[in-house]
Amino acid sequence: MAELTDIPTLAELEARLAAVPTLDAPALETESIAILGRKSGALTAIMRRIPELAPEDRRDFGAAVNSLKQRFDQAFAARGAELALRSAARAGPGPDLTMPGRQRWAGGLHPTTRVIQDVVGIFKSIGFAVAVGPEVEDEWYNFLALNFPPDHPAMDLHDTLYLARSGEPGEGSRERLLLRTHTSPVQLRVMMAGPPPYRVVCPGMCYRKDTFDASHLPAFTQIEGLAIDEGIGLVDLKATLTHMARRLFGPETVVRFRPSYFPFTEPSGEMDVRCGVCHGAGCPVCKQSGWIEILGCGMVHPNVLQNAAVDSERYTGWAFGMGPDRMALARYGIPDIRMLREGDMRVLGQFAGAP
Ligand code: PHE
Repeated sequence: MAELTDIPTLAELEARLAAVPTLDAPALETESIAILGRKSGALTAIMRRIPELAPEDRRDFGAAVNSLKQRFDQAFAARGAELALRSAARAGPGPDLTMPGRQRWAGGLHPTTRVIQDVVGIFKSIGFAVAVGPEVEDEWYNFLALNFPPDHPAMDLHDTLYLARSGEPGEGSRERLLLRTHTSPVQLRVMMAGPPPYRVVCPGMCYRKDTFDASHLPAFTQIEGLAIDEGIGLVDLKATLTHMARRLFGPETVVRFRPSYFPFTEPSGEMDVRCGVCHGAGCPVCKQSGWIEILGCGMVHPNVLQNAAVDSERYTGWAFGMGPDRMALARYGIPDIRMLREGDMRVLGQFAGAP
């Protein structure tokens, strides 16, 4: 076989290859650079000088160099692995493969947030827009414009969280500020911002002086709905809310409407869904009634339309207010509403990745 002069011969390299399995770690490193190094390794130097050989020798010589390179690669890798194993063995027992892995928390949406996003998504898909209003309201928006009589018990300090009363304004004045007790004032804000028709849902926080117990939160969420146009009637209200409930709780969901009273709707009603936990048999979530009340609703009172300067002869429509916190209890079978606010990861962690 042809040879190149003044660089290692292939026979010399064969001898160095044979010695690889005896090298220690630092020698292995040096030798691997000396043989395989891209810039000045022996094999590179040899390759570079192949053009000096007679043309008919180049092919065989090149193939011999390549095969040598492969065998060096393997020998270095094998010796390296062997040395690594030995030093691991010297370092004592290896990692305990039975040890539980490090736990990573998968984030998830809060159950109430899920209900709000789903309800809002359902209404968006049937043409509703989203509107929001301030949490600090005045008595006019929160009560009076909604047709509450000025002496209505809901306006009592007992139920409503009033904020500082600047300059002792009189009852019903716009300066008497409070934390909104429902999202219904957003109805007024939407209607006063532009002409009808309106189709909106308005999610947000509400506040009442309630004791924090298994079924009451002093700070809770609501979603208001409002649909006002020419010729809208009670049928539209019942059909829309039934559709929403079936999409949210499943196509088999049974709903019922009961008459009720709100100053701002006439007629007024409440909608219940068959308890999804016991399917009507009675359980702690539905307080043995088989039904869960999820919203109040009704045809918007003409006085409310007039207070918002909407022509109540021409336009009619409906509104509803629902409680996503309570709906989350029904949907996920959570027995105590306080669990939604305690931030206990043993509870909330169950909703990471839940539908
Ligand atoms: N605002 C009412 C409440 O908080 C709910 C409601 C909204 C009822 C709209 C009828 C229409 O209880």
